[in-house]
Amino acid sequence: MEIVTSFPEGFLWGAATSAYQCEGAAEGYGKKDNQQDVINREIHDEYGYADASVASDHYHHYKEDVALMAEMGFSSYRFSINWARVLPDGVGEPNPEGVEFYHNLLHELHAHNIEPVVTMWHYDLPMALVNKYGGWGSRQIVDDFEYYACFILNEYKDEVKYWLTINEQSIVVNYIDRKNKLTNEQKFDPKFRYQANHYMNLAHARAAIAVHEIVPGGQCGAALDMAPYYPHTCDPKDILAAKNASNFKNYFYMDAYICGEYTESVLAYLKRQGLMFDIQPGDMELIKKGSECFDFLGINYYQSACVKAPTPGAARRSKQNNKIGKGGHVVYEVQPDLFEGCKNEFIGDTDFSMPIDPVGLEYVLEDINDRYHIPVMICENGFGAYDKLEKDGSIHDPYRIEYIREHIKAMKAAIANGVKLLGYNPWSAFDLLSTSNGIAKRYGFVYVDRTDDDVKECKRYRKDSFYWYKNVIATNGKNLE
Ligand code: BG6
Repeated sequence: MEIVTSFPEGFLWGAATSAYQCEGAAEGYGKKDNQQDVINREIHDEYGYADASVASDHYHHYKEDVALMAEMGFSSYRFSINWARVLPDGVGEPNPEGVEFYHNLLHELHAHNIEPVVTMWHYDLPMALVNKYGGWGSRQIVDDFEYYACFILNEYKDEVKYWLTINEQSIVVNYIDRKNKLTNEQKFDPKFRYQANHYMNLAHARAAIAVHEIVPGGQCGAALDMAPYYPHTCDPKDILAAKNASNFKNYFYMDAYICGEYTESVLAYLKRQGLMFDIQPGDMELIKKGSECFDFLGINYYQSACVKAPTPGAARRSKQNNKIGKGGHVVYEVQPDLFEGCKNEFIGDTDFSMPIDPVGLEYVLEDINDRYHIPVMICENGFGAYDKLEKDGSIHDPYRIEYIREHIKAMKAAIANGVKLLGYNPWSAFDLLSTSNGIAKRYGFVYVDRTDDDVKECKRYRKDSFYWYKNVIATNGKNLE
């Protein structure tokens, strides 16, 4: 039963993207490589997926893209700044053309009354810093992240109120080798990801403090990937596994951002497993201070997860993404003595093996509110699929409409239960590179006409979901049909 019929006044309706996944103009334009440029060239060579060199060519289509957002009625747009576009060497000399690009984009957004929500870092560390000291592997990154944060905050402070420091820190930690260009030593050091996580928390804290110091009325958050962890059965061992997974995959990150402390049971587990990281005097004070500048939590919600008691002796492994786009190809995560992933028989999934679970969104929103009493912004949510461009220029994507409709219903239920929801920015405003499946796996409301092999002209076409979402926004979420 729907209790809330429409959304609060001023609710932000929009969509999201990230820089390297959509901008293109990756080579030249005063910019230098970031690690995603390099990683995506490697993915292209291995799997034939498009690389980041042209992506959706947003760099050259940004005016048209913003006009399409305005046509849908967006009141917000979440995007990220490409660190190596504004500071090609990570620190030091800025690139005037790159700095100007974001001023132009922001100008265009404001001209259409669209509130920018800006992510400082969405996986794309400048290669200069990776080559210099191994990126997140060195404490030096904390100073350099602060340098970058202060640079963009000073530059764009009059144009941007909502800032997100880091995108999906838990995903960066769990898939450390896929999201970063690592040295061999880093790759085979089991502790590395937790040390990197600690440096991310320090970098985040410095940036959050800077948002409050530099931006008049600035609001700081970070976007976390969020899945509820359900027990496979009501066997107490499975229930315990679900609690462990929630602590390990969710609360460990939220507790640091929001409360300025590490979840004790996770620290105890890391110590037991020989994975504990180094904390220096003053670090926890900084993380605490950062938490006092944390205004809202961004969540990226795609799916829920199911876990059971771990099989004794099972080796540690991460969940493997479905790279081939045919259902059923998924390898579940194992954390020894903690939990083991498994299939949830109650819910279906996409061709890319993402479980579809709108109820899980209500669950996480209410859980966050009950535990932390903090405003939340949905910074990603969406349906990746093979869309087909018809001869007449239409794209029929009822599966995406259905997915988003059910998730909006879950948002209404959560609001009725007290959740302070600031906005909804599904993934993605227009088609862009997937992190795992090239351009063939599409999420956008706008179709970008290119393939993995042929960039064509990246012409834009409105999907059925474009018109549907436009109507949802026009009625402030009242009409979902
Ligand atoms: C989120 C990321 O994890 O999921 C995005 O923040 C990503 O960058 C999105 O594109 C969808 O995942 P994928 O692998 O289908 O692109």
